[in-house]
Parts: sequence; C-alpha cells; structure tokens
Amino acid sequence: MSSAMKEAYAVGAFNISNLESLLAVVEAAVEEKSPVIVAVTPSSIRYAGLAFFEKIVKTAAKPAPVPMSLHLDHGEDVETASKCIEAGFTSVMIDGSHLKFEGNIALTKRVVNLAHPKGVSVEAELGRLAGVEESTVEEREAVLTDPDAAEEFVKRTDVDALAVAIGTSHGAYKFKGEPKLDFERLKLIREKVGIPLVLHGASSVPSWIIEKAVKYGAELGGAKGIPEEHIRKAISLGIAKINIDTDLRLAFTATVREFLVKSPKMFDPRKILGSAKEAMKEVVKSKMLLFRSSGKVL
Ligand code: G3H
Ligand code: 13P
Ligand code: ZN
Repeated sequence: MSSAMKEAYAVGAFNISNLESLLAVVEAAVEEKSPVIVAVTPSSIRYAGLAFFEKIVKTAAKPAPVPMSLHLDHGEDVETASKCIEAGFTSVMIDGSHLKFEGNIALTKRVVNLAHPKGVSVEAELGRLAGVEESTVEEREAVLTDPDAAEEFVKRTDVDALAVAIGTSHGAYKFKGEPKLDFERLKLIREKVGIPLVLHGASSVPSWIIEKAVKYGAELGGAKGIPEEHIRKAISLGIAKINIDTDLRLAFTATVREFLVKSPKMFDPRKILGSAKEAMKEVVKSKMLLFRSSGKVL
C-alpha cells in the first residue's frame, strides 16, 4: 500500500464469501496484473469457518503471479483478530469505530501489540460509516473523521492503515439525493496522517447491474452508490486501499437471476455459479482499472 500511496493508485480489497467470489477476485488480479487484497468479515467466517477461507485463499495465492493478501475486514474483537493472526492472515482490521475515542484507541492498541510481533499489519477505523446526508453540521462532525483526532489516533496506536469516514456507507443505498463526499476533510486528514488511508463503502452500484437484477425480478428501487469520478478523486487525495463488497453481491445476484430465467432446464451448480463468477470477475477487473492498480505487477 505504500507504493500505492506514492504512485497515486489504490489496491482493491474485495470481500469474498464463497469459492466463486474468491475465484473471481484471483482470476481478475492475474489477468489485470494487479496486486489484490482478499477480505473476509466475521460474518463470512461464521458462515463457512476460518479454516475454510485460510486454506482456499492460501491455495489460490501460492501459484498466483501477483501479490495477494488475506485480510480480516471489520474485526469485531481481540479474539477474532488473534485467531486470524494465528491462522496466517497478512493483515487484520479492528473496527472500534462504534466506541468512544479512548476505547477505540485501547482496543486498537491491543490488536497492534498482538499483530506487529508476527509481522501482521493492522487497519483501524475512526469515524462512523453512517449516512450523513440529512444530518446537521453537529451530527456530521460526530460521525465523520476529525483530522486532528486522526493524527492523535495514529500516533498513539501505531496502526498501519486508517479507515476514514468522509460520507460513504456500506450497502446499496448510500444516498437519497446527490452523492456527496467530504473531500476537504480527506485532504486535511491526508496532511496530518502519513499512513495509507482506506475508503470503505466504496461500491458504485452500477446501473447496468441494477437494471439486470430488476429485469429478472429483484427489488432494488433507490439503490445508489459512489460515482466513479468520486473514487478517482479520493485516490488523488491519498486513499490507498478501497473496499468493495456490494458491487460483487449485486453482480452475483443479477447474473444468477438472469441465468435461471434464461436456462430453465439447467441445474448444474457449476454452470449457474460459474456465470456469476464471470460477472463478479468483470466487476473486479473494472475496479482494478478504476483504481489504477492494473498493470502494477510486472
Ligand atoms: O463491510 C463489510 C460488508 O459489506 C458487510 O459484510 O455482511 O459480511 O458482515 P458482512
Ligand atoms: P460496499 O458495501 O460499498 O461494497 O463497502 C464494502 C466495505 O466497506 C467492506 O468493508
Ligand atoms: Zn467496510
């Protein structure tokens, strides 16, 4: 991520939840000659088990001619982070963003103390990824990352990457009105914080995917994401890691819906899920081009 910072590109962190999403991410990274971060959340770990992800990601990463790291996304507690560190994850996120400043520092510091001796890097989050569109100035200030607090947080915790809140949120319904991010704030944070900054909630919710999903029966009225030009601007202002989950989920769902309608006689899961894998792979490849991480591996 430090070369991403210097060269003004970002590395994508893509959430996987099954074999097909992993295959999509790996194949895209190899074809795009891009570094990539494979991310799993605690709820995915609850779904399939830590050992499952650890084994399939390591199996995929070993022969891959591109740097692939395995990352715990939104780690909830020291115990989960510790299990992932022991299992050989490259990096862990400890998400204390719901805690008060001092509580977040204390939790983050505990994970840093466990991770650093093992060579594992740590991402923390300051500020909350809540929709702030219709909020007052005071409410926004309470939710979005404060640049001075970010500076102090990084100094006191020694984290390796910081997720910032500048108006994005998770999921497919990010804005009711015009999409708006607080780029001024991002600039100020960048001036005060030297480590890589992370943008969560960065899916664009592409209209072509929504249209396909809706055509085949999905109900996704009002879905809206981050416009691609906002992503480019965020990278130019110092975002070096970008998290994507929703766009992969949408591509998966739209494609499975379409496939089942168009091929009513088909019941081979490899064909059904294979088509979804291809759609997710196209999404990942397009993100790598957007983030300018394509072609970074020689
Ligand atoms: O922030 C991460 C996800 O988009 C939410 O993931 O449903 O696996 O907890 P999850
Ligand atoms: P999206 O919901 O915008 O894809 O964000 C994913 C994310 O931040 C995972 O940590
Ligand atoms: Zn996130």
